[in-house]
Amino acid sequence: MHKKSILQKLAVFGFIFVFLFSFFQPVEAATDDSLKQIQDKGELVVGLSADYPPYEFHQTIKGKDEIVGFDVSIAQKIADDMGVKLTIKEMSFDSLLGALKTGKIDMIISGMSPTPEREKEVDFSDPYMTVQQKVVVRKSDKDKYQTTNDFNGKKVGAQKQTTQEELAENELTGSTVTSLQKVPDLILNLKSNKIDGVVLEGPVAEAYVSQDDSLAISDIEFVNGEKQTAIAMPKGATSLEKQVNSSIKTIKDDDLLKEYQKEANDLMFQKSNFFTQYGSYFVKGTLYTIALAAIGVLCGAVFGSALALLKLTNTRWLRWPATWYIEFVRGTPLLVQIFMVFFGTQLLGVDVSAFASGCIALSLNSAAYVAEIIRAGISGVNKGQAEAARSLGMTQSQSMRFIIMPQAIKNILPALGNEFVTVIKESSVVSVIGVTELMFMTGVVQGASFKPFIPLIITSLIYFVLTFSLSRLLGVAERRMRTSD
Ligand code: ARG
Repeated sequence: MHKKSILQKLAVFGFIFVFLFSFFQPVEAATDDSLKQIQDKGELVVGLSADYPPYEFHQTIKGKDEIVGFDVSIAQKIADDMGVKLTIKEMSFDSLLGALKTGKIDMIISGMSPTPEREKEVDFSDPYMTVQQKVVVRKSDKDKYQTTNDFNGKKVGAQKQTTQEELAENELTGSTVTSLQKVPDLILNLKSNKIDGVVLEGPVAEAYVSQDDSLAISDIEFVNGEKQTAIAMPKGATSLEKQVNSSIKTIKDDDLLKEYQKEANDLMFQKSNFFTQYGSYFVKGTLYTIALAAIGVLCGAVFGSALALLKLTNTRWLRWPATWYIEFVRGTPLLVQIFMVFFGTQLLGVDVSAFASGCIALSLNSAAYVAEIIRAGISGVNKGQAEAARSLGMTQSQSMRFIIMPQAIKNILPALGNEFVTVIKESSVVSVIGVTELMFMTGVVQGASFKPFIPLIITSLIYFVLTFSLSRLLGVAERRMRTSD
C-alpha cells in the first residue's frame, strides 16, 4: 500500500518533469526537416551584429538605411540557392547564440568562428574564411607595442563573448580586459585613452584604421591568432547544413568571396555629409523610442492600477500575488526582464517580435512602479478623510470615489509623469534585443560613420529634449490642477 503511493508519486513527478521538459526543448524535432521548414516558410532568417565592417555594417543606399557587407552577400547567395527570401535580424553579438537556440533566427552569419564551446551548442558549416587577429592601438603608441608582453599592466578591449575576448585574456599577459557589446564603443574607448588596445579580426581592424588617422594596427602577433569563420546553425539541422555547405562550395569554387569583399569595401568608403547621411537614422530611432515609451506607460498604467487595487484589498490570496509581482519586478534589472520576455515567449512557442517584446517588458516593468505610485497616493490620503466619509453614511466605494480618489489623484499624477520620463530613458535598454529605437540607431550610426562620439552627443540631446519638454508639460498640468484646489 505504502509502496504503491510512493510509486504513484514518482509517476506523477515523472509526468510533470517530462511535461515541463517538453516545453523547454528547442523547437527542432528528431527527424530533420530543417531545410524543408525554411523552404515552406519561404524565408531564411539570418541573425547578425552589424557593427563589423566589412563583414556586416549599415550603409545609406539611395537614402535608405541598409545592412550590407560580404556576410550579407553570402546570406543572399544561400537564400537564393534555397529559393527563398532573405530576412536579416540584427542584434548584439552576444545575443545571437540564444536567438538561434530559441529559434528566433535560422542561422548566424556574423563573422563567427567555430570554437569547442560553441560547437557544444550549435553546428557550424564549413569555414568560408581564415583570418588573423590584430590589435588596434593609437597611432602615437604604435612603437610601444611590439610583443604580446608589452600589454602587461595595460587595458585592452574586446567585443563581449567573442574569440577576441578569449585571445586577449589568454595571450596579452598581464593586461586587464574590458568587454563591450559593440565594436564602435571599443574604438571610442581606445581613442579617449580609456583602453590601450582593441583586439579585432584582421579585416575589421583594417576597416577601422583606414577610416581614422589616429589609429594603427600594431605589429603584435598572436600564437593562436588564426581563426576561421563559419555559419552557425541549430544542432542536428543536417539537411540545412548540407545545403549551406554546397552554397559555400560554389562561393569558394567560383571565387565569389573576392567579389563580395570588393563590393563591401566600395560601400564602406561611400561618404557624404553626416546629417544628410544619418539624419534619418535619428528620426527613426526617436519615433521608435517615443512609441515604446508611450505604449509602455499606457499599458503599464492600466496593469499597474489593477495591481494597486489588488494590493489594497483585504483578501489575502489577491494581495499576495500582486505584492510578489511588484517585489520581483522592482528587485530585478530591466535588462534581465527584457531578455526573459524576448527569449521566454519563444520557448513557450509564441513568436513575438523584438518591438513587441520590448513593449511588453517595459509595460510589465512600469506596471510595478505605477502600482506603487497609486498605492502610495491612496494611502497617503489622511485616514480621517475615509472615516469622516463613512460617518456621513457613505459606502466604502462612495468614499473611495468622491473623497479619497480626488485627493489621491493629486499625489499620483505628478509621480506618474516622472514615471513617463523614466520609461523614456529606460527604453534605451531595449536596444539589446535589436529594437531600432534611439540608442540602437546611435550604435548603428557610430559603426557606419566610424565616428564614435558625435552620435552620442546628438542622442543625448534628443533624449534631453524629449524628457525636458515632457516634464515642462507635466509641470504646467500640475499647476493648473493646483489652482483648481
Ligand atoms: N570572430 C569572432 C567570434 O567568433 C567575433 C565575431 C564578431 N562578429 C560581429 N559581427 N560583431 O567570436
